[in-house]
Amino acid sequence: MEKIVSLCKRRGFIYPSAEIYGGFSGFWDYGPYGLALRNNLKNLWWKLFVDSREDMYGVDAAEITKQEVFQASGHVSGFADPLADGTKFNTMFKTSVGAGEEASIAYLRPETAQGIFTNFKNIVDSFHPKLPFGIAQIGKAFRNEISPRDFIFRAREFEQMEVEYFVRPAEWKEAFVLWQKKTHDWIVAVGIDEKKVHELEVPDSERAHYSRRTIDFEYDFPFGRKELYGLAYRTDYDLSNHAKASGVELSYLDEETKEKIVPQVIEPSLGVGRTILAVLCSAYTEDELGGEPRAYLKLKPALAPVKAAVFPLLKNKPELVAKAREIYATLKKEFGAVVFDDNGNIGKRYRRQDEIGTPFCITIDFDSLEKGDVTVRDRDTGTQERIPLSDLSAQLSRKIGSIEPLK
Ligand code: GAP
Repeated sequence: MEKIVSLCKRRGFIYPSAEIYGGFSGFWDYGPYGLALRNNLKNLWWKLFVDSREDMYGVDAAEITKQEVFQASGHVSGFADPLADGTKFNTMFKTSVGAGEEASIAYLRPETAQGIFTNFKNIVDSFHPKLPFGIAQIGKAFRNEISPRDFIFRAREFEQMEVEYFVRPAEWKEAFVLWQKKTHDWIVAVGIDEKKVHELEVPDSERAHYSRRTIDFEYDFPFGRKELYGLAYRTDYDLSNHAKASGVELSYLDEETKEKIVPQVIEPSLGVGRTILAVLCSAYTEDELGGEPRAYLKLKPALAPVKAAVFPLLKNKPELVAKAREIYATLKKEFGAVVFDDNGNIGKRYRRQDEIGTPFCITIDFDSLEKGDVTVRDRDTGTQERIPLSDLSAQLSRKIGSIEPLK
């Protein structure tokens, strides 16, 4: 774990927040490579869970939320952890909105889910979806955790990727199994080590107040087996409570039976930070290459923060540098996440890229100038092949590949 935390800091993935003031427990800032990895994961989730499906609607709700929402959802009374003395501490961040006597209490949302339930009627009215359908959201959540710990595992500000999947009451079991499988398939798709993932049926006494069935997906982190994701059967708990508290009907007219029903909900809830941490733990590899020990991130190329690095063999040969710059400019236009490096010997440059998980390094040497080809070196095996410049973009695209929609 220490090696991963140190790599993240040293190589520009993740920094302690407000570090120059001694850090801020439970808060983390992302640097260029962490942000790139995080965006790649979120974009992939959106592609696999939303864009590749016909039954999904995206929303992006406000993060500061009116107190009535969390009174109705049960969070004001029930979202509490025990303190050492046995008293309960509500972990929602409370704030006030507006000035003076007009000010009203509000909360930073502790889950993105409620912004989905409060928009249920809007989506139904604007889009007339057929059941079953889902509403998805990626966004920040905030919890005043009593003891934030284990790097980004338990943070006070974090991101969630959530789906509330609305079904007819008789269909919940089938939908639960379907989302269990999709969550498993996602774990495999992003390269989290499947052997370290365990699906745990959460007993009655340990479930959240809104859930009638929960499966936790746990991962063997270096600091122990801990919750990675949750999958919950939230019944009609949220819609019914919001309907009661707001006085607004939150039902669905079933066109088949002409009956009004309150749909029930299956919720796969995935933390972004925990995904990043499990992906990094799964990818971190130490081996020996060319007789030297090395550490590298065996990330799926499609998720890697940098897709390719371009090197002139020698820094002091203008013709090599010019050709390398030209190739770099072309690839950067096409792939975006491409870097140029002419610092130090080639071996050192390879190691620097290995450490951040760059899948391909491209070297321009004297032969390149004569024959119009380059060396492409593979991160995992260290093997090198010569590829004609005319074919470089196409081959790189193929090698980087993409992660296909879940079945
Ligand atoms: N809407 C359901 C919900 O919020 P949860 O089990 O409390 O359920 C869902 O949280 C997921 O959010 C967790 O499985 C985890 O991935 C992530 N998560 C929860 N608390 C977190 C924290 N303090 N730091 C980082 N991630 C957290």
